[in-house]
Amino acid sequence: MRLDVVTIFPEYLEPLNVSLVGKARARGSLDVHVHDLRDWTYDRHNTVDDTPYGGGPGMVMKTEPWGEALDQVLADGYEAGRGAPALVVPTPSGRPFTQELAVELSERPWLVFTPARYEGIDRRVVDEYATRMPVYEVSIGDYVLAGGEAAVLVVTEAVARLLPGVLGNAESHRDDSFAPGAMANLLEGPVYTKPPRWRGRGIPDVLLSGHHGRIARWRRDEALRRTTAHRPDLIERCDPAAFDKKDRETLSILGWAPEPGGRFWRKVEDVEE
Ligand code: ADE
Repeated sequence: MRLDVVTIFPEYLEPLNVSLVGKARARGSLDVHVHDLRDWTYDRHNTVDDTPYGGGPGMVMKTEPWGEALDQVLADGYEAGRGAPALVVPTPSGRPFTQELAVELSERPWLVFTPARYEGIDRRVVDEYATRMPVYEVSIGDYVLAGGEAAVLVVTEAVARLLPGVLGNAESHRDDSFAPGAMANLLEGPVYTKPPRWRGRGIPDVLLSGHHGRIARWRRDEALRRTTAHRPDLIERCDPAAFDKKDRETLSILGWAPEPGGRFWRKVEDVEE
């Protein structure tokens, strides 16, 4: 997979040389190109922004540097024989970045990222390239960052670990908390390693029992416990067919019950409200 990132802070993308993404690059699974947007400015101050039409606070990134940068990056990639590019535009007004979207992006041969600073990029840039290629406007969460570079790192890491051969063990994705098509998207429960006692704290006995069935059940119950506490929305969204008899017992102990009619599980206080 080829990745291009156009940014006014190329040094912000240094982490792409480290850890899993760095190894994927070294092994040739990822071909990363980081570009300085200011290379496509021609004035003394290397201006990339201007005041917004219609007034208001902040500055807007200008069309010309982005247009020239993207034309060149796309021409270089095409010349290198890359397939169909997709533009990934990090923005707090994008669609939520999910594991499902990470899987979709991991199946594309070439991603071009356009992390913005200030109030974002002049809309005409996205509209222009959307006539030529798929554009994914993505938000990594309901908060506003100072720029899209951190979002590029997040998306790249989520995508890179899905590339064939990068994690080493294809099984490892299947159990991801948000793996698409999983029966139930549950958060993973706690994990432990040696030593067996630390500061007076032990390990749940079941994990030392060697009894695979009981261990799997314990993990499932812990996942249900954690998900009801941190992400009740995931339980409510779940197809109730994904809950077996023991899941239902656990949910009931945690204070959840099926809605009258039996389709969804809800925290009991909510049902009574
Ligand atoms: N740029 C600023 N905030 C962002 C967010 N939450 N997601 C993606 N890009 C952003």
